[in-house]
Amino acid sequence: MSLSNAPKKYFKLLVYGCQMNISDAERMKGQLETIGYAETHSLESADLILIHTCCVRESAEDRVYGKIGEIKHLKQQNPALIFGITGCMAQKEGDALIRRAPHIDFVLGTNKVKELTRVVQEMETEHGHVVDTTMTDREIESNAPIMRTGRFSAWVPIMYGCNNFCTYCIVPYVRGREHSRAASEIVREVEEAVANGYKEVTLLGQNVNSYGKDAGSTDFADLLRMVDSVKGIRRVRFMTSHPKDLSDRVIEAIRDGEHLCEHIHLPVQYGSNRILKAMNRVYTIESYRALVRRIRKEIPKVSLTTDLIVGFPGEREEDFEQTLEFLREIRFSSAYTFLYSKRSGTPAAEMEEQVDDAVKKERLQMLMRLQNEISLSLHQEMQGKIYEVMAEGPSKNDASIWSGRTRSNHLVLFTHEDEKEGDFISVKVTQPQTWLLKGNRVS
Ligand code: SAH
Ligand code: SF4
Ligand code: F3S
Repeated sequence: MSLSNAPKKYFKLLVYGCQMNISDAERMKGQLETIGYAETHSLESADLILIHTCCVRESAEDRVYGKIGEIKHLKQQNPALIFGITGCMAQKEGDALIRRAPHIDFVLGTNKVKELTRVVQEMETEHGHVVDTTMTDREIESNAPIMRTGRFSAWVPIMYGCNNFCTYCIVPYVRGREHSRAASEIVREVEEAVANGYKEVTLLGQNVNSYGKDAGSTDFADLLRMVDSVKGIRRVRFMTSHPKDLSDRVIEAIRDGEHLCEHIHLPVQYGSNRILKAMNRVYTIESYRALVRRIRKEIPKVSLTTDLIVGFPGEREEDFEQTLEFLREIRFSSAYTFLYSKRSGTPAAEMEEQVDDAVKKERLQMLMRLQNEISLSLHQEMQGKIYEVMAEGPSKNDASIWSGRTRSNHLVLFTHEDEKEGDFISVKVTQPQTWLLKGNRVS
């Protein structure tokens, strides 16, 4: 019997967390296909269920525990079902997950993506639990099969891990030290994506600006130039940029690049020096401001977005006021705002003066209100102007309304005419809103 006639086994992979997890999941899916699994969209029809997890905030973990609980009855109905936990929470919790939920068959840490198929095959024949969270350097897969989520936009990891140890953050503990992929490998992956019809790539790393510092002679600016000149690529994005080492060379590369998009996600996290210092972010509001000036001078069309945490231990009213003031001054296009979440094992979890929950929540509301006003006002400045948009397909609620993104990463809704997914069209903004822009196609 040929392999193609073999009865298929089905997997369902649930992904939580950041883009790095989405990218990992694409590689995990690619590997599962090589051992005869096809993707299914329902948990009930799966022979293998995986949860690829995040533990950056407590709320992320709570969601995963909820899902783990839901899967218990499926395992009771079908004892042959294989159930595994991977990703950051797997790394952090290890066998404690199985003690808490014995219906989990295996737990694989963040640097064990390559072991997945071996472990799954083991589970198919033997029962018992497997836990592997050893933290050797991640073996960077070369030519690993990938089942990509998008059809025109591809995630391309350029480095794994983080060396920064911001005092609130669990990522360096669960992802290990910075480890860059070879530039030639990255370029090869981008070329392959383009050959498969991809028009946009997003280069991924916890701190892309320190790309190459652990290894070769290619730095992030060089890499951007190399990827920009891949034949056929239309858009190159990258995230996340840490303000402490976004160099002038990188700014110049973006300025000069033909396909490098004018969008920088530049998490400031907070707007007072006292808190930035306690967070171990290494820059000050003055150096951040100077960086933003340099960026805006060289790349006038740039759109800046950010992340902010409220309620970090020791935050006082005056720190918070300064943060609001800083937001008014910098005027980010948009911001992801988070309530500080205590992560045990990080230095901030041990700090005194943890902020009261009610105060945190009130501050978060104020921050979001202010940011919404700023976003709306910046969007209003785009009214009547024409932008290049890559059509991405029907919007969620109405099939005749399509969505797409500008180079600056603004979400645009427009009435569908004859364009296909992946087409580049020109859209004139007619109705700017807080979260998105509505417009009409002009060519
Ligand atoms: N490497 C990226 C993003 C890491 S996690 C960076 O440095 O910007 C994404 C965001 O989650 C962070 O930017 C931060 O704003 C937020 N975050 C991380 N740890 C957190 C915690 N303990 N509580 C609340 N937010 C947190
Ligand atoms: Fe976490 Fe800081 Fe590293 Fe980002 S740079 S992943 S916030 S430790
Ligand atoms: Fe979460 Fe891990 Fe990303 S903790 S934010 S999935 S690196």
